Amino acid sequence: MIRYSDSPDFDPQQLLALFEQADWARGRSVNDIQRMLTETDLLISAWDGIQLVGVGRVLTDYVYRASIWDVIVDVNYQDRDIGKGLVQGILTHASLARVELFWLCTRRYQGFYTSLGFSDKEQTGMVWDRRKQPPLS
Ligand SMILES: CC(C)(COP(=O)(O)OP(=O)(O)OC[C@H]1O[C@@H](n2cnc3c(N)ncnc32)[C@H](O)[C@@H]1OP(=O)(O)O)[C@@H](O)C(=O)NCCC(=O)NCCS
Repeated sequence: MIRYSDSPDFDPQQLLALFEQADWARGRSVNDIQRMLTETDLLISAWDGIQLVGVGRVLTDYVYRASIWDVIVDVNYQDRDIGKGLVQGILTHASLARVELFWLCTRRYQGFYTSLGFSDKEQTGMVWDRRKQPPLS
């Protein structure tokens, strides 16, 4: 049975292994993940026994806006409603009950998020990617 948790208190090495499965998260370091865990407002994780099988995390002001990042399910556990459980765990989390608007960015999984009530009709996103900029003086 899959268990969901909102505790960020686990070995960053486990998260590293999960991130390695996604092209957009590959190459992250344990130190940076440790810092990320400390500074993230909410992280929901999914567990099969002691194995981390999915995560999703949130940055928020707890009132007006929340952004959802790094939703990922272990490839061996996909299509079992775990991604849905993670996102619903975020949307229904007591600490976020007042948040007016949740925002996320996805290139390939519009269908997944549409099935959870997200819309791509109202907002368009723009990004500033440090890795693609000329050096700042
Ligand atoms: C996207 C991802 C998190 C979905 O997790 P999952 O556990 O496989 O998805 P679920 O089993 O919870 O699916 C929930 C619903 O979304 C649908 N769905 C899942 N993936 C979908 C896709 N690529 N396109 C359309 N619908 C999809 C499912 O059919 C299901 O619909 P239902 O409730 O009507 O049956 C997972 O595929 C993943 O980790 N992908 C790689 C990492 C990644 O790139 N994440 C995107 C971050 S924006």
